[in-house]
Amino acid sequence: MKIFIVGVGYVGLVTAACLAELGHQVTGVDIDPDKIKKLEKGECPIYEPGLEEIIKKNIQAGRLKFQIGINEEINKFDMAMIAVGTPERESDGRADLFYVGETARHIAQNCRKKDFVVVGKSTVPIGTATQIRESLAVYNPRKTTFHVGSNPETLREGNAVSDFMNPDRIIIGGDKKAQEALLKLYEKIDSPKIVTNARSAEMIKLAANFMLALRVSATNMLSRICDVTGADIEAVMEGVGMDKRIGPKFLKAGVGYGGSCFPKDTKSIRSISDHYRLDTSIFDAVIEINSEQRKWFCQKVDEITLFTLKNKKIAVWGLAFKPDTDDTREAPSIDVIKWLLEEGAEVSVFDPVANVKKIFSKKIKHCRDMYEAVDKAEALLILTEWEVFKQADLKKVKEAMLVPKIVDGRNIYDPKVVRKMGFEYVSMGRP
Ligand code: UDX
Repeated sequence: MKIFIVGVGYVGLVTAACLAELGHQVTGVDIDPDKIKKLEKGECPIYEPGLEEIIKKNIQAGRLKFQIGINEEINKFDMAMIAVGTPERESDGRADLFYVGETARHIAQNCRKKDFVVVGKSTVPIGTATQIRESLAVYNPRKTTFHVGSNPETLREGNAVSDFMNPDRIIIGGDKKAQEALLKLYEKIDSPKIVTNARSAEMIKLAANFMLALRVSATNMLSRICDVTGADIEAVMEGVGMDKRIGPKFLKAGVGYGGSCFPKDTKSIRSISDHYRLDTSIFDAVIEINSEQRKWFCQKVDEITLFTLKNKKIAVWGLAFKPDTDDTREAPSIDVIKWLLEEGAEVSVFDPVANVKKIFSKKIKHCRDMYEAVDKAEALLILTEWEVFKQADLKKVKEAMLVPKIVDGRNIYDPKVVRKMGFEYVSMGRP
């Protein structure tokens, strides 16, 4: 099939490259000329393991092209996918659908086909497909019959390519023609498909992310009870996860979730609930616990350091919201570093790929090496569970630090081992 993907950010670019890899003819479209220029040279603007190779391979094979903006070219395609950004609106937490609306308008104005399938890929509030359909009709003077579908993504950053090619399920929503087109599009992927109406498809994405965020916040709330009772959250959640009805995944205590999805989607589903005057307390709780979890971590830092943080050198390992990505959107590191600076600490940071220079510029020191960051530090804070930190030479760390104290926000070390080496060590929900 010939697919026209509008918006080549995290979701659109992975989708474009993987659909080309499956043998489809794909054109990725964006309004950012620099991004398109880079992509045409096969350069990948995001850090996503395995993605650049697939982009290069499919450009070579002539299956993947890129262009700036929507134009008459669209009439050479069987389907348009809308994968533009839907950022959170400051005012009420709802998703901002401006770019979705603009894309629908430009598709309608350029489409001259008798029939055309338009699919929403971006994470959107329930009912957006209906708005897309109405907008296409308004702006299309040629009376094309549009078939509108919803195909939300379920990609995890850092695993996006493998998640696309081996999904737990493919979510297919929309009218009959749109459903048929999407089933055809994904026929080469051997995975269960849930075929339903557009509203339910849109809601599956929001509900799934809410349920995942709920598990994380519930675990983090339970970890605080462990902190004050001397129980061990790792053992507790291992035992809980053995219940087959619960399962072991997303029960890891830590400094809280971040990223571009959980925070946005939990607020989006909350604002939908609020819009219909429904009770929002469960959504409020998940969001509040996640925000409080950063403070719970900072309290541990405050308690372990002598007197005050003022003028103390504090090392931070991990800036990305999770390992294997350079994405720092809503990362716990941002809140923690802000607090450290407010307390007057001198902050040195290291992350294998991410940086927060745009936010903190010269106020903190971005180190090239994780051991440079701990030089003369009075505490080491772990905020992202990068493999390289798990394998760190802690003897070398101890020698470099002024005072050997670790506050482990991702429970990556064994408390007995690090304490035996002479570190004062605290973590999340473990004695
Ligand atoms: C998530 C969903 O997993 C994915 O299906 C959806 O399409 C997009 O949102 P992503 O945000 O990339 O993917 O990351 P994920 O691996 O889900 O982790 C989200 C956050 O939860 C991270 O900050 C992670 O550190 C945190 N987390 C995850 C925990 O704190 N504990 C856990 O047990 C699991």
